[in-house]
Amino acid sequence: MALPSNPRVGLVGWRGMVGSVLMQRMEAEGDFAHIEPVFFSTSSAGGELPAAIARFAKNERKLQAASDLKALAACDIVITAQGSDFTNEAYGPLRASGWKGYWIDAAKTLRMSDDAVIVLDPVNLPVIRNALAKGIKDYIGGNCTVSCMLMGLGALFKADLVEWMAATTYQAASGGGAQHMRELLAQMGTLNGSVKALLADPASAILEIDRRIASTQRGLSAEETKNFMVPLAGSLIPWIDADRGDGTSLEEWKGGAETNKILGRGPGFGTPGAGPGSVVAAIPIDSICVRVGAMRCHSQSVTIKLKKDVPLQEIEQMIARDNEWVRLVPNNREATLRELTPVAVTGTMQIPVGRVRKLALGPSYLGAFTIGDQLLWGAAEPLRRMLRILLSQ
Ligand code: HSE
Repeated sequence: MALPSNPRVGLVGWRGMVGSVLMQRMEAEGDFAHIEPVFFSTSSAGGELPAAIARFAKNERKLQAASDLKALAACDIVITAQGSDFTNEAYGPLRASGWKGYWIDAAKTLRMSDDAVIVLDPVNLPVIRNALAKGIKDYIGGNCTVSCMLMGLGALFKADLVEWMAATTYQAASGGGAQHMRELLAQMGTLNGSVKALLADPASAILEIDRRIASTQRGLSAEETKNFMVPLAGSLIPWIDADRGDGTSLEEWKGGAETNKILGRGPGFGTPGAGPGSVVAAIPIDSICVRVGAMRCHSQSVTIKLKKDVPLQEIEQMIARDNEWVRLVPNNREATLRELTPVAVTGTMQIPVGRVRKLALGPSYLGAFTIGDQLLWGAAEPLRRMLRILLSQ
């Protein structure tokens, strides 16, 4: 579908955490110069645009109702970071009304639908282009952990070197949402407050401090653990998202399913295989997903079984040259402490990959550690880049 110049782009969920980061990135990259933005609201329809977004507006200077299907249908493209509830409510009726526009969405709802592509163009631009040529209209941002990992290690998948991958993730509070970040910080404050006097006294006994901290953690109220359900500060939670009832979490399932879909691998995902009618097999990928007390960077430690023994230097070069955001961190203590931590990466577009080494398991076993800001590459960035792909068609 040819888009008009300055297409009407409906923006839903711009006020939330992912949406706010999306607005920042769209402003930084000059995206608003190419579109007629139409801002939607679930709560203040009809009102003036708030200061945070008023400067992006052109002709459409009032908030539209996110429940107004006609207003949504008047857009050539809708980009939503509003979340699954909105997608569940609006998408079906909008399509049923005959709307043929492009739907770009951060929520997980439509990711695995046959008619949707998971977008991460530095990794799967050919999959996206193929879908556009076929007339696919739904482009969905991937799970943040998957997207950040693929931005770092995509080179190995593109070269078809991965036989299987196992990961342990270290996922930040922001993956749960803004309230989760607040809760983590509040817990940190409570813990600190419970031992402040002892900390100030260099002669105090560390085991006494530890005892009080454990007691404070175990004594946190339901209100103080409303979002994570248990203390996260000074602890970790080795379960993320729903229980699938088979010993895996939904987050762990996404790791395998979405990675393969992004790569266009596996039944239904399109890449033709060697034989007639065959498709390239899915890569076995599994993980244990863990919530840690980081703010907004997701990290993961991976073990990759390579299909063959590739020299380490070659692997390092492939990783480093894959895209302009990946940073190969030399596998030594100094560089790791300086460059390979959530604190070093937060708020940046960089995707460091470090601890890259052959494992004692054998020459075709590779270890690596990746980090990415889950609000940038993990959420907002692939959406705005998809918009630019549509605009450049
Ligand atoms: N499910 C992710 C998390 C959020 O909880 O960290 C981003 O997909």
